[in-house]
Amino acid sequence: MEVQVKIAISGKGGVGKTTISSMIVRELASRGRKVLAIDADPNAGLADAFGYDRETMGAIVPLVERKALIEERTGAKPGESGGYFALNPKVDDFVSRYSVDVNGVPTIVMGALKEALSGCYCSENTLLRSFLRHLMVERDEWLVLDMEAGFEHMTRGTAQSVDLLLVVVEPGERSISIARKLIELAEHTDIPKTRLVLNKLHGEEQALAVAGKLGSERVIERMPFDMQAVSADLSGAMPYEYCPELVAKIRSLVDRLESLTER
Ligand SMILES: Nc1ncnc2c1ncn2[C@@H]1O[C@H](COP(=O)(O)OP(=O)(O)OP(=O)(O)O)[C@@H](O)[C@H]1O
Ligand SMILES: [Mg+2]
Repeated sequence: MEVQVKIAISGKGGVGKTTISSMIVRELASRGRKVLAIDADPNAGLADAFGYDRETMGAIVPLVERKALIEERTGAKPGESGGYFALNPKVDDFVSRYSVDVNGVPTIVMGALKEALSGCYCSENTLLRSFLRHLMVERDEWLVLDMEAGFEHMTRGTAQSVDLLLVVVEPGERSISIARKLIELAEHTDIPKTRLVLNKLHGEEQALAVAGKLGSERVIERMPFDMQAVSADLSGAMPYEYCPELVAKIRSLVDRLESLTER
């Protein structure tokens, strides 16, 4: 049977999660794999990173902002606390109805899952959680989830049923300590595997230093700091089309993901 890995990509802010997610998605698509891309960062940017053109297509409405849908499926108005709402809302039509095609890849923007300071986002949370569970358990395809920076998604359980947590780390103490915390949190969930992608490396010494602190056995790929990525970002170009050095690394990373067969 073909391997289909459900992957969440996590790490400190700005380490390259979206860049790497977008390149993995494009590489899988170019191999003819069935893949679904999920932007799970409240500050959405994944679709743009692999080719969504807002100017011509308009902004994508995040799932969490579909108030009528949330009410229809959960029986409760978004933001309302108390009362009853369906705990197992129907979500199996969301991919066909609410995904947007980006360069041939169906993509869903989840929107902000944050708890508000006052009031409750119970119905939205229930719906998104049910949807994520459906994606992980009932659907037959690769799943690439671009998570928000930090580890709130781990404590909230959003990434809970993935097969693999990919933690992106750049050489730097804050990034390393967030990665350490993510590894630790993942050990207390059912996530079977956690791997590290070292990014923005300036030379072998930095790779060794980071690997030394987090465990070299967990490192699945090392990516150099690439000026092309900086220029791509500045000019709005897609890294998959603009950064051959990084794409080569992503290819070997995807080869390794494809060999992570055992669940
Ligand atoms: N290997 C690399 N070399 C140089 N620059 C890189 C590399 N990878 C990513 N970048 C740059 O780092 C910046 C942040 O990247 P990206 O948006 O992918 O990070 P992120 O982790 O998703 O950030 P956020 O936490 O804000 O979602 C971008 O300008 C991107 O082009
Ligand atoms: Mg990002």
